[in-house]
Amino acid sequence: MNHRLTVPPIKCQGIKTKLIPWLWTLVPQDFNGTWIEPFMGSGVVAFNLLPRRALLADSNPHIINFYQAIASGQLSGSSVRHYLVREGGKLLDSQGEHYYVIRERFNQTGDSLDFLFLNRACFNGLMRFNRKKEFNVPFCRRPSRFSSAYITKIVNQVNRVAAIIRVKDYQFSCMTYETTIRSAVPGDVIYADPPYISRHNDYYNGWDDSDEQRLATELQGAPCRFLLSTWHSNSFRSNSCLGMFWSQYHISTREHFYHVGARENNRHPMVEALVTNYDPSELSTELDGCETTQLGLLHPVAPGTPGNNPL
Ligand SMILES: C[S@@+](CC[C@H](N)C(=O)[O-])C[C@H]1O[C@@H](n2cnc3c(N)ncnc32)[C@H](O)[C@@H]1O
Repeated sequence: MNHRLTVPPIKCQGIKTKLIPWLWTLVPQDFNGTWIEPFMGSGVVAFNLLPRRALLADSNPHIINFYQAIASGQLSGSSVRHYLVREGGKLLDSQGEHYYVIRERFNQTGDSLDFLFLNRACFNGLMRFNRKKEFNVPFCRRPSRFSSAYITKIVNQVNRVAAIIRVKDYQFSCMTYETTIRSAVPGDVIYADPPYISRHNDYYNGWDDSDEQRLATELQGAPCRFLLSTWHSNSFRSNSCLGMFWSQYHISTREHFYHVGARENNRHPMVEALVTNYDPSELSTELDGCETTQLGLLHPVAPGTPGNNPL
């Protein structure tokens, strides 16, 4: 694997950027079908694993509209630069008030450039929508947010994913995970990364035990190999769904830090789990120094245990 990670222009909660090298070791390389992500989020997993053909789906239409606009050429590095220079200038001149003008406009029109602007200028990079499906995250309070260096960074991220989408066969679809999983055929591989229960819930991320159960039923009925990201344990408790739904499957684990908020003490260590319906140790992937372990499901592993090293 090329270890220079592709960082996508859109950020979302639960983004798997730091877990890519580990995921890489657990993903089958020998499939001829479609790489299917029912919960694409930022798209960082596909944009780094680079399957030939992919179905990237999410129930959040703004994510899908954004990537469809890149795929059609309607949104490009140069249109993003032009837009961010103009709107970033207004943000600075208004001492930040312009953020709320864009937020209101976005909630009326759903414009993809406005979505990018909000995603990169909101508080802590959160993506959160209220019941009326309105984006409701406040401003990060930095009127100079869109410096020319920051704009160039975002433009490069857009150009990078546009270059990938141009040469690959990727379809972006707004649909719920049931429909996406039911489209799978033998030879495909599904990577499911649902919202984690009780974390970051909002209009597009409501997730509870019944969703967990329905997702398990869908995945267990899928006609192909799958990988499911979930959590194994944190310092306080372990994920009972692993024992309930996944005890007959392969479970690999790795410690991971999620950043919620800006402060150091908001970095919560979590043991991340990857459930697969195949044995990852039989894959031909080079393990690249990463260890995977099979853990007793109901015995949480203390963060920092050998074999669960942070990346
Ligand atoms: C944990 S994030 C995925 C993160 C992604 N793998 C990444 O690394 O950026 C979960 C995603 O699932 C989407 N989602 C939530 N409920 C859904 C549903 N019922 N069907 C499809 N997508 C859903 C959310 O909009 C969100 O983008």
